[in-house]
Amino acid sequence: KKIALVTGGYSGEAEISYKSAITVENNVDRSKFDVYKIDINPEGWYYLPADGEKVPVNKSDFTVSYNGTTIHFDAVLMCIHGTPGEDGKLQGYFDMLNLPYTSCDAATSALTFNKRYTVAVASFAGIKVAKSVLLIKGRMENADEAALLQFPVFVKPNNGGSSIGMSKVNSKDGLQAAIEKAFKEDNQVLVEEFIQGREFTIGVFRKKGEIITLPMTEVVSKNEFFDYEAKYLGKSDEITPAVVEETIAEKVRETARNIYTVLNCRGIVRIDFIYNEAAGAPYMLEVNTVPGQSDASLVPQQVRAMGATLQDFYTDVIEEALS
Ligand code: DAL
Ligand code: MG
Repeated sequence: KKIALVTGGYSGEAEISYKSAITVENNVDRSKFDVYKIDINPEGWYYLPADGEKVPVNKSDFTVSYNGTTIHFDAVLMCIHGTPGEDGKLQGYFDMLNLPYTSCDAATSALTFNKRYTVAVASFAGIKVAKSVLLIKGRMENADEAALLQFPVFVKPNNGGSSIGMSKVNSKDGLQAAIEKAFKEDNQVLVEEFIQGREFTIGVFRKKGEIITLPMTEVVSKNEFFDYEAKYLGKSDEITPAVVEETIAEKVRETARNIYTVLNCRGIVRIDFIYNEAAGAPYMLEVNTVPGQSDASLVPQQVRAMGATLQDFYTDVIEEALS
């Protein structure tokens, strides 16, 4: 089978997407799949063969003409974090072309890429979430509501990833600057109450119809929170599998499976939680539908902790997309 490994993207997370694609490229089972790396970036869409050439992709049917033949792909392995690979845009395009892909569908991708919509829908389904206020650039009628939240709060671009543009704010004084910083990344900013507790993150995927959770990770950040530095520059301890009582672990797993079902997820997603002792329940922070696969990323750690190889895991993910 011919697999297009799409990477890059138009956001600040492109750098992470390239790293993710390297892990995937190095671990896909070549006896089963031919992998073609496709770079989608603001300058264009290119197939990158090993010889270093940049071969433009034919956007009308997502084929590539190379060495005198035209390559038609059997499936797309989505390795773009942020737009347009995680927010439903490419998903809608591939749906139009009848080309299977490894991520959630267009609707779920668009929904989950919007943090505010995700917590709204999850909370409608009974999942616990933090209280938050959404600010929209140029329509700041509700700006006062943000100041009424219980501090500390997190201020984040509503549509974004890898904690880019995000701040933790301990009192009202710091709110304005944090909102301005987040508005640099996005026209929508989410101000969200801090939930006390331990942070867990858990990969979830489907294999032959069954929803499977990976061993969860506890994130212990050495920075103020699990920010970009903590995520990718080693400023955090990520304990995989988390050392946690089985009752807590099971609550997180159960909630994660529930969210996967309620939001109609597909492929590998990673859901972030804070487990709050007083409530005795996990609070959902967000759903990452194209979770990082770089060396420093969490899902590869969790796959290894399960005792599986990345090769078998990516085979499962591709086969699920093809089924
Ligand atoms: N947005 C990053 C890549 C993640 O969720 O892992
Ligand atoms: Mg994220």
